[in-house]
Amino acid sequence: MKTRVLKVDPSNIDADSIREAAEVIKAGGLVAFPTETVYGLGASALDEKAIRKIFTAKGRPQDNPLILHVAAVSQAAEAVEFFPPNAKILIDKFWPGPLTLVMKKSSKVPSVVTGGLDTVAVRMPSDPVALELIRCSNVAIVAPSANISGHPSTTNAQHVIDDLSGKIDLILDSGPCRVGVESTVLDLTISPPAVLRPGGTTLESLRQVLGNVVYSPFLTERPSQPRSPGMKYAHYLPKADMYIVRGNIGDVVKKIRALASEYKKRGISVGVLATDQTASEYEGFAVLSAGNRDRPESIAECFFGILRRFDKMNVSIILSEAIDAEGVGMAVMNRMEKAAAYKFIDA
Ligand code: TXA
Ligand code: MG
Repeated sequence: MKTRVLKVDPSNIDADSIREAAEVIKAGGLVAFPTETVYGLGASALDEKAIRKIFTAKGRPQDNPLILHVAAVSQAAEAVEFFPPNAKILIDKFWPGPLTLVMKKSSKVPSVVTGGLDTVAVRMPSDPVALELIRCSNVAIVAPSANISGHPSTTNAQHVIDDLSGKIDLILDSGPCRVGVESTVLDLTISPPAVLRPGGTTLESLRQVLGNVVYSPFLTERPSQPRSPGMKYAHYLPKADMYIVRGNIGDVVKKIRALASEYKKRGISVGVLATDQTASEYEGFAVLSAGNRDRPESIAECFFGILRRFDKMNVSIILSEAIDAEGVGMAVMNRMEKAAAYKFIDA
């Protein structure tokens, strides 16, 4: 299949391009489209055959449920049995935006979307191109991140081309994603509500609105043998073997320099994932800065792209500085831990 790429200017959206993409959705095809978090791979929520194609294109396990993307609250209402009281407050405050709500599903949602669960995950993205596409398709759009299953998520159209060209009908290219990590997934079927995946909406901001919100115990679960992660943990993996170096930042820099020199001596190509504050400390090594460690949003924005750049540089080892797990830093560390298959080095 030939994958077409249509460029769309997000500040001056071309109606013809959106119409073309919406026609593909309505006809049962797959369209990769930008959201504020990462690119999504969309299909019509009413078309089971199209939804199955998503799993095939990504190589995604069938039991991993998909997020339903809506452009209106009424569309979300149709997908759920009822809105719990918390949902209304959260929708008012955080939609459109990077917050996915898990609620009891209605009978209208095909079970292929939810992997057989009786709950459905729903979000309203804030990206104007995403919203226009959903509106113009006249249907909710189910979409996982637009990457091969197990690879880092995609935050620009080139990433999507690298992973999915030839496997999907169309890519809407409106440039890089603003947030860079996926939405926060919040389970509203339990009390207190629990964050199943930290993301673009911080725990701190959820607590300001709801009071009691917790991280799900599943989040802190670790595989027993970190060096051989189960399928469940195979996420965001770069080609290289990645290690997270943690501790006081001064010690971290020293430790990484020592390890990198050692690898270099042995002829092993190593990449250092650093921050703006520290990148200059690694002169002589292949170093990429993810952003400013005092502004975790800046690191979130670039993180997946940096993993993909290391893939292109063909390094065998990545040594990554840990950052503080506060605010969006929590989402970044969650992705970093998975990318490193939970391998840590204490500085
Ligand atoms: O920002 C995002 O959420 C992006 C963009 C494209 O919207 N989408 C995304 O989709 O990250 P995906 O499929 O890569 O991740 C969806 C996450 C998975 O961890 C999945 O297990 C969880 O949401 N999920 C979906 N439905 C669920 C449900 N009913 N109960 C619990 N978790 C669910
Ligand atoms: Mg994903």
